[in-house]
Amino acid sequence: MHTCQHQTVYQKDYAAPDYLVETVELSFDLDPDLTRVVSRLKIRSNHDRAGGVRPLVLDGEELTLVSLKLDGVELEPYRYQAGEGTLTVNDPPESFVLEVTTEISPKANTALSGLYASGPMLCTQCEAEGFRRITYFTDRPDVMAVYTVTLRADKSSCPVLLANGNLVEKGDLPDGRHFATWHDPFKKPSYLFAVVAGDLAHIPGSFTTMSGRQVNLEIYVEEKNRGKCDHALRSLIEAMRWDEEQFGREYDLDTYMVVAVDDFNMGAMENKGLNVFNSRYVLASPETATDDDYQAIEEVIGHEYFHNWTGNRITCRDWFQLSLKEGLTIFRDQEFSADMQSRPVKRIADVRLLRSSQFPEDAGPLAHPVRPDSYVEINNFYSMTVYHKGGEVIRMLQTLLGREAFRAGMDLYFERHDGQAVRVDEFVQAMADAGKRDLSQFMRWYNQSGTPVLTVSDDFEPASGVYTLTVTQSCPPTPGQPEKEPFHIPLAMGLLDRQGRELPLQLEGEKSPGATTRVLELRQETQSFRFTGVGSKPVPSLLRNFSAPVKLVYPYSEDDLTLLMTSDSDPFVRWEAGQVQAVQLIMGLVREIQAERAPAVPETFIRSFATLLTDKRQDRAFLAEALTLPTESYLAEQMEVIDPAAIREARELVRTTVGERLREELVAAREACAPKSPYHPDDGLAGCRRLKNLCLSYLMAPGSREAVGMAMEQFRGADNMTDSLGALATLAGCDCPERDEALEAFYRKWRDDRGVIDKWFSLQATSRLPQTLDRVLELLEHPDFDIRNPNRVRSLVGAFSQANQVRFHDAEGRGYRFLGDQILRLNGINPQIAARMLTPFSRWRRFDAGRQELMKKELERILAEPDLARDVYELAAKSL
Ligand code: ARG
Ligand code: ZN
Repeated sequence: MHTCQHQTVYQKDYAAPDYLVETVELSFDLDPDLTRVVSRLKIRSNHDRAGGVRPLVLDGEELTLVSLKLDGVELEPYRYQAGEGTLTVNDPPESFVLEVTTEISPKANTALSGLYASGPMLCTQCEAEGFRRITYFTDRPDVMAVYTVTLRADKSSCPVLLANGNLVEKGDLPDGRHFATWHDPFKKPSYLFAVVAGDLAHIPGSFTTMSGRQVNLEIYVEEKNRGKCDHALRSLIEAMRWDEEQFGREYDLDTYMVVAVDDFNMGAMENKGLNVFNSRYVLASPETATDDDYQAIEEVIGHEYFHNWTGNRITCRDWFQLSLKEGLTIFRDQEFSADMQSRPVKRIADVRLLRSSQFPEDAGPLAHPVRPDSYVEINNFYSMTVYHKGGEVIRMLQTLLGREAFRAGMDLYFERHDGQAVRVDEFVQAMADAGKRDLSQFMRWYNQSGTPVLTVSDDFEPASGVYTLTVTQSCPPTPGQPEKEPFHIPLAMGLLDRQGRELPLQLEGEKSPGATTRVLELRQETQSFRFTGVGSKPVPSLLRNFSAPVKLVYPYSEDDLTLLMTSDSDPFVRWEAGQVQAVQLIMGLVREIQAERAPAVPETFIRSFATLLTDKRQDRAFLAEALTLPTESYLAEQMEVIDPAAIREARELVRTTVGERLREELVAAREACAPKSPYHPDDGLAGCRRLKNLCLSYLMAPGSREAVGMAMEQFRGADNMTDSLGALATLAGCDCPERDEALEAFYRKWRDDRGVIDKWFSLQATSRLPQTLDRVLELLEHPDFDIRNPNRVRSLVGAFSQANQVRFHDAEGRGYRFLGDQILRLNGINPQIAARMLTPFSRWRRFDAGRQELMKKELERILAEPDLARDVYELAAKSL
């Protein structure tokens, strides 16, 4: 196997920069084939020169150096070296102006990092280390400077020229060209730099801040998408208001711009005053976007906006601190969404995501702490752990401190560190000071990887009325961390009597009973809590609102779970009780299937499903969550050795049985949710639509002609994408003649809409029908498939390998071969996307020997590629 010389970067090696950059003046002669960049940097030494003058080392990748001047004089070749990824200037003075001229080719930039072409426009992505692909620079977040940027381009093809900050000047130039100069008064790290040029429609809006300043909001999209921006604009206004109300944070520039581009590696980017978005998180209309799409737009628009304070005003000292801004901003966007919609339903969705994507990461070879100790390629650490577990860590701080002290901690953090590049430690210190708490043990959440397990047992002494809960915490070994120290864990809980009433909680030694929910603080490996005045053995309601990102083990009986499901005051616990029941049921069926016995769904399950389904009091959105079975991948996590076929069969058996046995109830529930007025994304009926589509999918599970008829009717009659796609998804999974007809009609109708065609690809890729892999291979050759477009790759390659467990894990290994081929193909085109596609292979150890062998072979084949990108190398090597 080939050995790579890719370097590992360690957190412990951090050193302050030798040189600081005070101002940056950039000028671009924009052209998709060849763009010339002139950069004038005002640089000042930042080290003790008495101990020797250190060279200035600038980062640079894929640049052609044209000229290099120091204080106006072209440097002699012996004064500098242009090496692999760096430009070194020897013996520079204490302070000086460096002028660097480079050339780049945006069109050839398929990695989509730096300056690149997306359709008819040019745009940038600089986080984490893309700025060095534009010009030579000290490309690290602790070097913050004031930028002035001049853009020159052809006026007819690029009438719009944008950069960070405020427009200072614009005008015409000879030869049909024009220019614009922008100035950003805020010091910023290079990763927040952005420019955009193109022929773009502009959708204006405005917001008046709490101090009465008027801010211009501007969304830029391709002309054909002009009508799809209302929701993004509305979401932005809501987000601005929310940050003022919840955190007292106001926007700080006169203009806030959002640009939608079709080719984008991630979701969006918070560049100061000029966000660049993946178009899927901006564009929406009722005909083309689902309720989930609307929801995701609100969330991502909020996320990028919230970064202006948590990320831009206060940024990261180094990339190990990434969760400082990402975990905090995820927490903020989750809270924003919770306030905009149903809080319990949002919480459930967030927990589902964490469990299905972050828990497996934490349990596998790529596990890393929320603040990693080392990396080879930082882009690989824009992970579920850094983002979503990081968000949970912030949430735990709020739970431990209480909302008020948490808010005071945020204020103190802004007060102390505005304008700085800091570490996670500074954030936690502000919280500790504001809350007057010792959070040193809490820091382990940042430094130790792995998902802790809480094992709970209890004991009731009728004579004394004392009920004892004993909690033991443990955390499995993870790469580089065989032993763990105990975490500081908030465990929110309550106690229910057999009638489902909540007991006021009184710990031994307390004078009087208190509230019915309390947060127990775990700090030791094993801790006991003695509750007094308890009349009969209660049922514990544990981990309310999912108060910590842990796995909980308590031997609940069937009756306990039913009691929690129907009576607990905490919606998360009510939902969770149902999920635990469903997991137990399905895992039981899996064992029957594996033992080749005839599995059957017990009557009790069908009855409690029916009770929920016909419950008129519950919120529809919550009901839909409660009636959704755990995903195949979550079920897989519960198995020692994953058996994708048995999981699929067991889960399907439950769905089919529900569909057959509860046909009437499902039809009635579906009809009760039928629309009474034309669709509107904000009509508050998204929960209803979700429940309706869920009922349809249960009805379709047995595959009756009647159900197919219902699906076709819904598909044809829908006035919105949620219903149209809901119907088409069930049809795509059914082996019936209507399937192809519907898919074909959908394609013909939407062939000119990229976002919708992405859905068309992923519906087919996630179909559980046996011929799916063949269809996926055909779709690779489809004229609309484009390996260079990340959304398209995700919708076909990503959807098949990450959301179609049973077909991807084909026992012959054809799915693996397919993914290996695509990763190798992407390696030379877009390393970040290639690396993202590797995730399913990292789980290889969880499968049977045959599949292990086949997946390992693919990883080895990938590692044998001589020109392996750093991104792909790191993940493949760590996976093996
Ligand atoms: N900071 C962006 C966000 O979370 C993510 C950009 C990351 N891009 C990357 N190529 N690593 O909002
Ligand atoms: Zn972010």
